[in-house]
This record gives sequence, structure tokens and C-alpha cells, in this order.
Amino acid sequence: YLREDELNEESKKLLLTLPKERGWLASHIYNYQGFWIAPRHLQGVIACQQQFQAQDSDIILVTSPKSGTTWLKALVFALVNRIRFPFSEQNHPLLVNNPHDLVPFLELKLYIDGQVPNFSSFTSPRLLSTHLPYGSLPKSVQHSKNKLVYLCRNPRDIFISLFHFTNNLRIENMGTNSIEEMLDLFCKGVSLYGPFWNHVLDYWKKSIENPKKVLFLMYEEMKEQPEIQLKRLAEFLGCSFSIEEEKSGVVDEILKMCSFENLSNLEVNKNEKLSTGEENKVFFRRGKVGDWKNYFTLEMTEKLNHIIEQKFQGSGLLF
Ligand code: A3P
Repeated sequence: YLREDELNEESKKLLLTLPKERGWLASHIYNYQGFWIAPRHLQGVIACQQQFQAQDSDIILVTSPKSGTTWLKALVFALVNRIRFPFSEQNHPLLVNNPHDLVPFLELKLYIDGQVPNFSSFTSPRLLSTHLPYGSLPKSVQHSKNKLVYLCRNPRDIFISLFHFTNNLRIENMGTNSIEEMLDLFCKGVSLYGPFWNHVLDYWKKSIENPKKVLFLMYEEMKEQPEIQLKRLAEFLGCSFSIEEEKSGVVDEILKMCSFENLSNLEVNKNEKLSTGEENKVFFRRGKVGDWKNYFTLEMTEKLNHIIEQKFQGSGLLF
């Protein structure tokens, strides 16, 4: 991970002015525009806010980290490209690339570390992704007709997933974080791109106000009713399945291709790394609903329940 002293001057100066807390990845996490961000990512956030120009046809996938981003990227890639890349092909892009390389993050990949992205190799619609809260999206994303797909997940499972993920990625000499310490931070809203509740509620409200712009999906519902949710997604993106496709089993083929079992066992996802340095295997841990039950004490459960109730009360969202 790039250290704070390797950031550009503008970001370094800005960091000095921002509120900070103990970090999940680096030693500190900073509050920028009301959300928490690791120092390495600040520069990319600012660059994409200033420079990214959305096109009406763009499809932008949005998540809070550990909501199932990797799965959503795979599903949308397979769905949108199902004619160009049939599933019978041995070299289907999803069999030889990690989904994060097929649907890149704006702030974490395309604009990271002062890079200037080259969009000329993208086909239309461009598939992109971000973890940014709604209010911090580049203005052109908020104002053009592009589509946003938001994937949400039970905060208890997100917390456990984030706890494992960040301990995996922490620089070795920084030691690991304890689960109690991190739950304290999570409940205070101090988590990557958090507070988690603000992130979810902003997109939830937008999806109700403007259902053509924002589709709100839940990880647990995708696990429980994958066909129904994939069809919803296809309809929202304007690429519904034809009757012939449904009969020939295309829906199932997409789900099988993108399943945890399939993706996590591919050579590329077992042994290779992203260009940004993370090993692909860190994005595949258990892929289950309810793993939090294996970690939470009664006290931890009550603590998180309390804040979940308080924050989501009256929103129509239940966790
Ligand atoms: P767990 O840590 O609970 O296993 P993200 O992709 O947003 O980083 O989220 C990662 C979480 O999604 C991890 O959760 C990971 O195992 C799970 N995941 C990855 N690929 C998946 C897939 N194809 N289907 C379901 N879950 C998946």
C-alpha cells in the first residue's frame, strides 16, 4: 500500500486538515466530505471527481466495500456481454480475468495514484464501478442519464467480511486489528466509505425517487432468488432476456458462471494479483449469508443491533 508520504502535494496538504481516526488498512483513516477513506485513495477520489465525464450509456456499479462487489461485477459483465461472449467459449473473459479487471473502479483503479485513464479500449456501454457515497459521485454521474446499480448487504456480514479483508491486506509490520476494536469503529461509522448507514440510505432514497436511475439490490435476496434478481437487473439495464433465451437456460448459465464456487476455483482467482497489488483470492472468502453468527458474542450482537435499529428505523430497510 502506497504510504501517505507518497501522495501528491495537494492530497498531502488536504490530509493535514481532515479529521482522522485509527485506520482499518493504513495507520489512519480520514474523513473527507463526510465519509471515511484510506489515505492512498484520497488522490484518486479527488481526481475522478474533477475529471470523470459520464456518458448516458454508462453502467456504474456501486457498493459499500464487502457487499459483494466482485459478484455483481461478474454478473453484470456476463449479462451485458452475453452475445459477444457466449458461455460455451473456453476463453470467456470471466474464466481468465478477475471481475475487478473487467469492471474497474474509478477511484481505486482508473484514477489511482495520479493515473490518467484511457477509455478508448472500452466498448459501449462502459462498465465502471465505485464505492463513493451518492453525494460525492462525480457531478457528471449525478447529472447524466447513466444507470447506477447499488448492491447492499447485511451490515453484520459486511463487518465480518471487512474485518477479515483488512487484516489480510494490512502491511505485515502493522499487526492485526482486534474484532472488538473494529466493531467499535464500525458502530461509530468509521469504516471504509462509511458511515455504512449513510451510504446505504442515500442510495436507497435515490432508488425510490428515481427508479430508472438507481436499482437497489440486496446480497441476501440475490442468494435466495438469483433468477428473479438477475431478471430484474437485466430489465433495469434494458437488456431483458428473450423467451428463447429463458428457454435455452441463459439465466442459469450466467448464474453458474458467476457463482462463488466457479469463480473462486479458477486459476486466475487463486494465484494471480490485481494491477493495484491485491491478491485476487482475498475477494473470495466464504460467500455465505449469516457468517457473522460464527463470530459475534451476545454483547457484540446487541451493540450492532442497537445502532442498526436506530439508523434504519422508518426507512423501510430491515436488517
Ligand atoms: P465474505 O467475506 O462474507 O465471504 P466485495 O466483492 O464487495 O469485496 O465483497 C466480498 C464478499 O463477497 C466476500 O464475502 C466474498 O466471499 C463474497 N463473494 C465473492 N464472490 C462471490 C460470489 N461469486 N458469490 C457470492 N459471494 C461472493
